[in-house]
Amino acid sequence: STGMVTLDPGFGNTAACRSEITYIDGDAGILRYRGYPIEQLAEGATFAEVCHLLVHGELPTPEQLDELTARLRDNAAIPAGLRDLIAAFPVEAHPMASLSGAVNMLAAFHADACDPADPAQVDEATIRLLAQLPTVAAQIHRRATGQDVVEPDPSLGYVENFLNMTFGPTEGGVDPLLVRAMDLLFILHADHELNCSTATVRVVGSSQADLFASIAAGVNALSGPLHGGANQAVLEMLEGIQRVDGDVDSFIKKVKDRESKTRLMGFGHRVYKNFDPRSKQIKKLAQQILSRQEGEDRLFELALQLEEHALSDQYFVDRKLYPNVDFYTGLIYRAMGFPTNMFTVLFAIGRLPGWIAHWRELRNDPAARIARPRQLYVGPKERAYPGRS
Ligand code: SDX
Repeated sequence: STGMVTLDPGFGNTAACRSEITYIDGDAGILRYRGYPIEQLAEGATFAEVCHLLVHGELPTPEQLDELTARLRDNAAIPAGLRDLIAAFPVEAHPMASLSGAVNMLAAFHADACDPADPAQVDEATIRLLAQLPTVAAQIHRRATGQDVVEPDPSLGYVENFLNMTFGPTEGGVDPLLVRAMDLLFILHADHELNCSTATVRVVGSSQADLFASIAAGVNALSGPLHGGANQAVLEMLEGIQRVDGDVDSFIKKVKDRESKTRLMGFGHRVYKNFDPRSKQIKKLAQQILSRQEGEDRLFELALQLEEHALSDQYFVDRKLYPNVDFYTGLIYRAMGFPTNMFTVLFAIGRLPGWIAHWRELRNDPAARIARPRQLYVGPKERAYPGRS
């Protein structure tokens, strides 16, 4: 024990319990990446800078940022064999299933960057994943929507290129407000300490599996509706309420009826028992993006009503349930033109630098050991096998 926190040896690696990457104060609603408050990074940084900060521990110098930008641009194309694989995925596959399959297979095409013990290979794998995940995501979307692949365009920036590959070239180029909004959303999702998917990346990485295999595992953990899948579940919840004439009161009543096992998706958090600082930034962005649309956005109005109702209802107040990072993001993604089943893929692109940073921190910790939690056995006592009669 460190006198403050009892490190769980069962988790198998001390790095899982101690980290220099992200600080969260759930009661005060504080989130800092390598000491920088999320509000300041959201205001002034770019996603590329935040990737460098999370992975290397410091904001990049102008030269380092130029080099990172160039390496991401030069590595954006995915191997032809992977393109063919994505083109063969079932059209009805959920994009998160396709994403984890594609990421796992990246190891087969990047065999020269798979040795966790070789820092040069780890750096190569880091760059190729950061550069190629958006390309993989865009090509999965084009496959699922029956559209031709749009290749990476080296004249575009990282986020602009992703939007161009996803939605195709548009007259006048990608809307700068959408680029800024996407960049900000990626920053807000970039890391979050030892959440379910990051813990998964550490557990898989602790067996000395390669970075691609560890990230593919993180993608799978993120896909669950209690975690990253919540941004899709929020939209489906809002659309469900809209189908019954926007009857928020009946929905809230159903949530409070434990028999119904209905959750207010996008609300609640294991750590934040006050507001989620990211949700405040995202709500502001939603107001900006959605106010540009013609007419009132019924679903956004519904979301605002749900939030207002929940925040004044004792059931939610007693359980310290507030909007989390997923409550408003789906409304923005929908307004940007993404189909609902792509929302969690966007979460994965944002969270990638955080997953990589945690995996590298674990790999660089000499005290790190394989994760091997123990269980309390409560099954049958010893008994004799009766033999065959
Ligand atoms: C993310 O960990 C991270 O940092 C995650 C994340 C990240 O950046 O990586 O922040 C991203 O995953 C955000 C959370 C997205 N998930 C959702 O929005 C799904 C809805 N939320 C819940 O399922 C829940 O709040 C969790 C999963 C987020 C947290 O679950 P906990 O901490 O295990 O809480 P719990 O299930 O023990 O609930 C405590 C009480 C229970 O009531 P009682 O049994 O005490 O009467 O609160 C209730 C729960 O029923 N409750 C909810 C609720 N969340 C908890 N009731 C209604 N609606 C909800 N959303």
